[in-house]
Amino acid sequence: MSWSITLTNVTKKYGERTILDDISLTIPAGETVAILGPSGGGKSTLIRCVNGLNTFDAGEIEVGPHRVGPTGPKGVITRIRQSFGMIFQDFQLFPHFSVLENITEAPIRVLGERPALVRERAMLLLKRVGLADRATAYPRELSGGQKQRIAIARALAMNPRGLLCDEITSSLDPEIKTEVLNVLEDLKRDGMTLVLVTHEIGFARRVADRVVVLCDGRIIENGPPASVLDNPQSERMAAFLKCVMG
Ligand SMILES: Nc1ncnc2c1ncn2[C@@H]1O[C@H](COP(=O)(O)OP(=O)(O)OP(=O)(O)O)[C@@H](O)[C@H]1O
Ligand SMILES: [Mg+2]
Repeated sequence: MSWSITLTNVTKKYGERTILDDISLTIPAGETVAILGPSGGGKSTLIRCVNGLNTFDAGEIEVGPHRVGPTGPKGVITRIRQSFGMIFQDFQLFPHFSVLENITEAPIRVLGERPALVRERAMLLLKRVGLADRATAYPRELSGGQKQRIAIARALAMNPRGLLCDEITSSLDPEIKTEVLNVLEDLKRDGMTLVLVTHEIGFARRVADRVVVLCDGRIIENGPPASVLDNPQSERMAAFLKCVMG
């Protein structure tokens, strides 16, 4: 079962600089949301706050049944982090572990699940991402697209209530991007809550239920892809689109 995410008046500062400025946003369970916006706008910071990888200074974040403020509680942050998978542009696989070990490590060590069971699930996940034949390979033997699909399988092995993806296709060649985007589409069909920081405007238009645009730490657009991308309300968004679409 997927979880919803609600941010209420979330503010995040680094020193004197306000990085997230009073952000309120609701992502219902099972929704796919694309987060777009210019570099430095706060996209990564926002999803890292949701997952407890960044602290924040004011406001509240609710993820499924859990609710945290700036000071925690710590135990709740840990539970959120274990319930929501996070996937990064640079994969962050464990280089000294095989593909299978990459996937089974956290469920066995963190969740204390039975190794035989976890390995069985890992093999099913490898099949799902089209890499059943690479279980014994090491990350260095894989292409970028393959690595990213392993990172997705690793996140799924924790039976997450949703995934937070930070530009996970940005370092991939165009034809390889498709492999990864297809896996995301498949997860969307399954009803997984997906938060995708992305520069793939075409993918956002086709797959996202909603597009949220962050600029200078504020949400400047939030709506269905067609209205945000074809009929933006703000001049900033029109300028951004012109810049990325050429
Ligand atoms: N650890 C940090 N210490 C200080 N400032 C930071 C830190 N991490 C991020 N920032 C600043 O916060 C702002 C938002 O950064 P963030 O990484 O969230 O942007 P982004 O929208 O993800 O950009 P990009 O599209 O380039 O990935 C930037 O101005 C950045 O310099
Ligand atoms: Mg970023």
